[in-house]
Amino acid sequence: MNEYNPDGLESTPAWLLLKENYADVGGKHLRELFAGDPDRATRFTAEGAGLYLDYSKQRITDETFRLLIQLAEQRGLRERAEEMFSGVHINVTEDRAVLHTALRDPRSVKLDVDGQDVTGDVNDVLDKMAQFADRIRSGEWKGHTGKRIANVINIGIGGSDLGPVMAYEAMKFYSDRDIKFEFISNVDGTDFAEAVLGLDPEETLFIVSSKTFVTQETMTNANSARTWILDALKDKSAVAKHFVAVSTNAELVEKFGIDTANMFGFWDWVGGRYSMDSAIGLSTMIAVGPDGFHEMLDGFHEMDEHFRTTPLEQNLPALMGLLGVWNRDFLGCATVAVLPYEQYLKRFPAYLQQLTMESNGKHVTLSGKHVTYETGPIYWGEPGTNGQHSFYQLIHQGTSIIPCDFLFFVEPLNKVPALDAPDHHDLLIANVLAQSSALAFGKTAEEVAAEGVPADVVPHKVMEGNRPSNTVMAQKLTPHTLGAMIALYEHSVFTQGVVWGIDSFDQWGVELGKIMAKKIVPVLVEGSDDATLDASTLMLAARYRDGKNKK
Ligand code: F6P
Repeated sequence: MNEYNPDGLESTPAWLLLKENYADVGGKHLRELFAGDPDRATRFTAEGAGLYLDYSKQRITDETFRLLIQLAEQRGLRERAEEMFSGVHINVTEDRAVLHTALRDPRSVKLDVDGQDVTGDVNDVLDKMAQFADRIRSGEWKGHTGKRIANVINIGIGGSDLGPVMAYEAMKFYSDRDIKFEFISNVDGTDFAEAVLGLDPEETLFIVSSKTFVTQETMTNANSARTWILDALKDKSAVAKHFVAVSTNAELVEKFGIDTANMFGFWDWVGGRYSMDSAIGLSTMIAVGPDGFHEMLDGFHEMDEHFRTTPLEQNLPALMGLLGVWNRDFLGCATVAVLPYEQYLKRFPAYLQQLTMESNGKHVTLSGKHVTYETGPIYWGEPGTNGQHSFYQLIHQGTSIIPCDFLFFVEPLNKVPALDAPDHHDLLIANVLAQSSALAFGKTAEEVAAEGVPADVVPHKVMEGNRPSNTVMAQKLTPHTLGAMIALYEHSVFTQGVVWGIDSFDQWGVELGKIMAKKIVPVLVEGSDDATLDASTLMLAARYRDGKNKK
């Protein structure tokens, strides 16, 4: 294999040919592409780990497809993936392995990395989590006053929140309804106040989830939680019964007052946004039980294996990643809408925002050179059909092309009777199919005029179409399909990072704001001067202080 050159994208033969291909394909309409090639609806599809992907509504031809596959080969996608799976330090700027895939390896796998028995350690933590989850679910674990735990509150932010809250919402159907779950992330005190409102401290367990255990928001909320418990229970020893921690930092966990016997560990080779299937998923495991959690891990693993072994032409994450590169760098699309037609996936777009944007929102390559092409697009979205009545107007007729990922399931989890009306689920699916079709094919001026629309209104009703989309379909939302779906996006993000030559596993861009916030605190609280701050910030801080004093 040639040595990976992060800076070599624009001289890759396939990239150069894709430019030529775009000159041909870019001007073509999906109507034309389908008319000349109706078979593309069956050909441009792929299946794996229980998911079916239809990408026939992407603006590609067979030649584009062939070149995208070549691009992946020429950028060494396969080899880079093997490096990731085997523990090479591909997170170059932090000199770390990237081993979230090891979190879902079967017990039989033997993986030693940097002197660590990775699979053994992962399974030890999973077993400890399972024991604890069972004790909470069965009521064996009691609070300080002997009451069983009825409320579980995860305190964390970013990857230590978005994964747990998304997974809880996604698998609520399978969760223990006798336990109430809350998630506190924002340093805004309202988040805390609303989460604990009406809860009995004697029945409440806090899971403080933080990889580093220094994150300002999480530690502030954890301190408030400790105050809330101690105010009610008036005994320091109550902390041990009402707090557990998930972290890589045993020292700080102990300092906070949590018994490290009740700490669930993970490792620096699990990135925050890739951690929901590590101990960070403790709340998820309590909600759905150890079996449900393991079923989810199996779904992740099946997609890992699919990514690792399936030829690129049929490889879901590779294809989705490559199509994303095509849309971003050739079609010039700056954003992607993720549109799950499944109410339980309402937090999935928010989860994907961190996964995709913290991973691939990078401006330099692995060697530190400024990129001369676009990298990670903005991800956003809402569950269908709600979005249709708000922002879809812009997707259909706005001046930006927004590729969409439509997600749906054949079987609904809730069969809701609707006498004398079409079935909820049939309507839901009719809507998702209608949207991707309308976006792709639109409606011409002739078609609009033929409906008797007055000439002056015709331009307003024209739908240009030619808006690309993927459709991902699965039989049913289960822990298994959820795991597969998340891994699909993880590896599609990876694929793009490899093509772009960037470090998808660091996040230096979030640091400066954190440091500045620390500097600004004394300016707000003590009115101290800080000559290193800009004039606008100092003015705003002064106005805030005046306002505070007026109260
Ligand atoms: O600020 C970004 C970030 O570092 C994320 O990458 C991470 O998921 C989040 O903060 C929370 O970090 P921690 O788990 O260490 O509290």
